[in-house]
Amino acid sequence: MWPVFVVPGSGVCEPIDAMPGQCRYSVDALIEALGPVAAMGISGILIFGLADDNGKDAAGTSAFDPQGTVQDAVRAVRNAFPDLLVFTDVCVCAYTSHGHCGPLLASGQVNNDAANAVLAKVAVSHADAGAHGVAPSAMMDGQVAAIRGALDAAGLTDTILMSYSTKFASAMYGPFREAEKSSPQAGDRKGYQASYGDLATALRESDLDEAEGADILMVKPSLFYLDVLARLRERTDLPIAAYNVSGEYAMLIATAERGWGDLHAMVRESIVALDRAGADIIISYWANQYDEIVGSGG
Ligand code: PBG
Ligand code: ZN
Repeated sequence: MWPVFVVPGSGVCEPIDAMPGQCRYSVDALIEALGPVAAMGISGILIFGLADDNGKDAAGTSAFDPQGTVQDAVRAVRNAFPDLLVFTDVCVCAYTSHGHCGPLLASGQVNNDAANAVLAKVAVSHADAGAHGVAPSAMMDGQVAAIRGALDAAGLTDTILMSYSTKFASAMYGPFREAEKSSPQAGDRKGYQASYGDLATALRESDLDEAEGADILMVKPSLFYLDVLARLRERTDLPIAAYNVSGEYAMLIATAERGWGDLHAMVRESIVALDRAGADIIISYWANQYDEIVGSGG
């Protein structure tokens, strides 16, 4: 699956500095960019939205606007590419004024339960627009149950729930946060994301999401966490997605630019590693370059 960034407006393809080969697209430009990607046989996309300049508030409420950019993008892509799977990221860090993944308590910590209520509304708005699947990435306790309950209550019982079930508090999200303009203004995400040194808790996070009704689990980042992926593969019968994150993408590009490695050979090796470790679904920014990457080495 190809992760894509959508912005308001039209005719926009704004290159992302830290992620060469990736742009922030307006909906019309995304449809244009998807033509060749769909033709290469990429099975789906994962849509991330950015708020309007004045669209951020303390709770991230513009994320569930039925006429929002993500909702528009879902409708347009479903219409233009009936065979493409359309998933959406469900979080509010690009829509909150403080950049955290939910509304804050007076202490500055995220209010877990208030976040779940907002995330449920976001997921329902995406599913209502026609998303095949929703992918909650906020790492709030109980977010899968809250979203599943809200989808069921809205009659959206066929929507697939792909949970970012084991998502680490990682230093590898930097380029993405630049792309999304979603860095926390203060503090970090260690209060809600998993600690990378603690394998047992990381696996338990995925178990809990499975028990709450997730249809697909995820390990993120993925290349530094192949052990987690392989362990999870033995532990669950659910499909597992590996998120090949922005820092992993930028790392290979930077190495190749310095002449220290062949880009496409490094990409092929890394993607095969994800497959070998047990990923059923690979979410990767390399997806829009699939043909060149495969073509230059078989
Ligand atoms: C935010 C979110 C992040 C990513 C996906 N959703 C960043 C973060 O948690 O700060 C990272 C993706 C990437 O680095 O490619 N909920
Ligand atoms: Zn977030």
